Amino acid sequence: MRALRLHEIGGPQHLRIDEVAVPPITESEALVRIRAAALNHRDLFITQGLYPKIALPVTLGSDGAGEVARLGALVADLAVGDEVVIDPMLEWGDNPRVWDAAEATILGMPHAGTFAEYAAVPIDNVYRKPPPLSMDEAAAIPLAGLTAYRAVFTRGALQPGETVLITGVGGGVQTFVLLFAKHIGAQAIVTSSSDEKLKRARALGADLAINYATNPDWPKLLRATAPIDLIVDSSGGETLRKSLDAIRPGGRIVVYGGTNGDATIKMFPLFWKHVAILGTSMGSPQDFAAMLELFNQGLRPAVDRVFAFGDAPAAFDRLAAAHQFGKVVLRVD
Ligand SMILES: NC(=O)c1ccc[n+]([C@@H]2O[C@H](COP(=O)([O-])OP(=O)(O)OC[C@H]3O[C@@H](n4cnc5c(N)ncnc54)[C@H](OP(=O)(O)O)[C@@H]3O)[C@@H](O)[C@H]2O)c1
Repeated sequence: MRALRLHEIGGPQHLRIDEVAVPPITESEALVRIRAAALNHRDLFITQGLYPKIALPVTLGSDGAGEVARLGALVADLAVGDEVVIDPMLEWGDNPRVWDAAEATILGMPHAGTFAEYAAVPIDNVYRKPPPLSMDEAAAIPLAGLTAYRAVFTRGALQPGETVLITGVGGGVQTFVLLFAKHIGAQAIVTSSSDEKLKRARALGADLAINYATNPDWPKLLRATAPIDLIVDSSGGETLRKSLDAIRPGGRIVVYGGTNGDATIKMFPLFWKHVAILGTSMGSPQDFAAMLELFNQGLRPAVDRVFAFGDAPAAFDRLAAAHQFGKVVLRVD
């Protein structure tokens, strides 16, 4: 089979399509014929060596959708040919409140991932594809949708009628935050460095869109506009410091990434405003099932662009340049 493998640390230019053996499966795994996969910032970070213990060569890719090609002997409730989508969160553990930090891993390093014609996946991580979605759409959901679902609902406890601020709406996860917020009837304010992305976010239902690059004092603007109940952020750095200025007393800030590095925050507004800063990563099996249910009900993910498998370098370039709005998909057929 063909697999997109990383051979050296130093960037996506070290990815190559190789001919490799179809992976064997254990009795509790399924072999999935991948039809579409999607990129995450994690894939890019791995090519740059920004993860510990990278063993090379490795097949990247956390997001995938396709059909069941073969089943282990212990698998009862799926059949060969079923259309499925993969939960990339492996070994979450038994506690829905937090993952088992010693055991939890993510598909696509160290476990060979979805940028290949076939992937061996533990059966607990294989879910039926929501019927309304195409393979490209289903592949766009898993990692980003799961992270967003947990950030918005499980950790952020967003309620209908509340206002959420989504910083850097061009990010893969943040477009799902916007979708979910509007789906339950919350107000959504978005920021981006790109007017084009702000326009697209408005088309997806954003109530207010602010360019954070041309309005660096956006917290002041927001304090005069609307009380912000929840902020969902993955940029960290300056953005987290400013979020503390923007949030209403008693508000929540949920953080799932630190693209712009560490943050130094003011202590006074943190305790005086009774702000809760909540960390989150990926999501539990319960989060994944609840997230998929939203798509069974007809929600559609924002797909930025679909690339052919052979054009993977161009797909990585698009992510690296932050040109995408929504998910960058790789077609693997
Ligand atoms: N913990 C987890 O489970 C988990 C899961 C997924 C992702 N993450 C992390 O979350 C981050 C985003 O991941 P992703 O896959 O969604 O990446 P992505 O699609 O590449 O999105 C990155 C986005 O960050 C935004 N950004 C950059 N600088 C910003 C700033 N100063 N203020 C506000 N926004 C800024 C940009 O938004 P604009 O273009 O709109 O300006 C950009 O589009 C990464 O650090 C990733 O590692 C963590």
